[in-house]
Amino acid sequence: MTSISNDSGTKNISANSPNIPNTQKINHFQVIEKTFLNNTESDYTEKIRDLGKGFDYAINSNHYWSKPELSLFYGTPLYEVASPSQKIALNHLYWVGNYNHTAVSEASTMMYNMVTGGVFKAVGGYETLCRELEVETEQESHHIRAFQKVAYKTKLALLGKEILGNSSYRKSDNGVMQFAPQLLRRFFSSNLGSVPFSTYTDRTLSIVAKTMLQDKKQYYSDYLKQLENKGELIPAATDGLVGRIAPQYWLRFLTLHWGISPFMACQYYSIRYTANAILKNEEHLYVKYFRELQQKNQFIPIPTAISNYHLLDEAFHTTMSQTIARDMYKDFPKPTAYEKLISGQIIYMMQKSLLSGLSGVLPGRCVADDPLFMLFFYKLLKSPLFEMSTTEALHWINKCFCQEHDGFHVGLRYHQKLLESLRRLFGCLDYQWSINREMSIMAAGGSISKAIQNNIKTFAQFSKSVSSD
Ligand SMILES: [Fe+2]
Ligand SMILES: [Fe+2]
Repeated sequence: MTSISNDSGTKNISANSPNIPNTQKINHFQVIEKTFLNNTESDYTEKIRDLGKGFDYAINSNHYWSKPELSLFYGTPLYEVASPSQKIALNHLYWVGNYNHTAVSEASTMMYNMVTGGVFKAVGGYETLCRELEVETEQESHHIRAFQKVAYKTKLALLGKEILGNSSYRKSDNGVMQFAPQLLRRFFSSNLGSVPFSTYTDRTLSIVAKTMLQDKKQYYSDYLKQLENKGELIPAATDGLVGRIAPQYWLRFLTLHWGISPFMACQYYSIRYTANAILKNEEHLYVKYFRELQQKNQFIPIPTAISNYHLLDEAFHTTMSQTIARDMYKDFPKPTAYEKLISGQIIYMMQKSLLSGLSGVLPGRCVADDPLFMLFFYKLLKSPLFEMSTTEALHWINKCFCQEHDGFHVGLRYHQKLLESLRRLFGCLDYQWSINREMSIMAAGGSISKAIQNNIKTFAQFSKSVSSD
């Protein structure tokens, strides 16, 4: 039997614990066991790996990889006038953008699995969970490789060496740097630790975290301990979903919380669940399409098949995220006022940065069309795919971002579906602020008129910068 101490003494946390209602204990321990068994017996990862290895763009190039709805610019005036081959390319580029982003997010998931797994290992009694997290980490590495392989070959075939979707700016893009406040913030808060102020901030925040969680120091993740012994910085997501939530110093501060406190380690899984839900919101459409093609005995493009098996693999991960975030945290002493504050703040920030808007040109993504998006689409219109002049490209950007069209309505549908699934989890978290339990910021962002107003302002600055380049 394993025990964990808190201010009020010692609490048992094993399946025999008198402190946890029997039904709840049995439920989540059983779910973990069953998920681990089913996951290790499945062969979806191997299928994804083999499909990725065998991908040849030419063989898949004349087919849609999903229903047209999952295409860049879908529902916009530009989509109406695009040629059939441009429409197929927009469908393929949607897959590329979606899974490039997923690959980056999954790379940070691998790291956070190790950070939190170290805490659960230190607590003891969660061996199956730790093994499941190791399996998931291994699976993500295969997913990432397959996504990158398909994305690279597709991009190369459609756009040549033009770097689209690369979040780092080249010299010629300096003119639009001012419209990427998040990137600038990241630049100045430097994850290299070479800026004295950044180092000072890191040290100060690290002292705050370790002081506030001092009573949990015996659960400090082995993974972080080893990095510290090697003199390395506390890691944090630099991109992808988690990387967009906050500046680097904030994320490193959070990594410490998720790597010391058992409660906070569970809390991380509410963010991982959000990432799972965002992906599933789109990926289930690829699965639907895969099944339709299978039933009709028609050719199934490799990316469609990868999406199908990925959703099946991720279903295990989603179950784990939900179980840890919604049920397992109750195994541990109730969160302190400090832990509640940090948990509330991070979800509040997540709503603000990831969920507070609506897209008119990327229908499955529930994020605002920010300056980075505008730049991405501008470059796409000027690429060999559309060969537009600067004036033409700006004209279409204005039409697609700043005027109401079907794309915004499709985006709103995805936004509402995601909102429902997030409320199902966050509504159960008794320690959360009500603004987070109800996902109020996200709900307020589901407005077409607000999205258009926001885009009009962004476009005014963006077009000025492009013309002066
Ligand atoms: Fe994955
Ligand atoms: Fe996953």
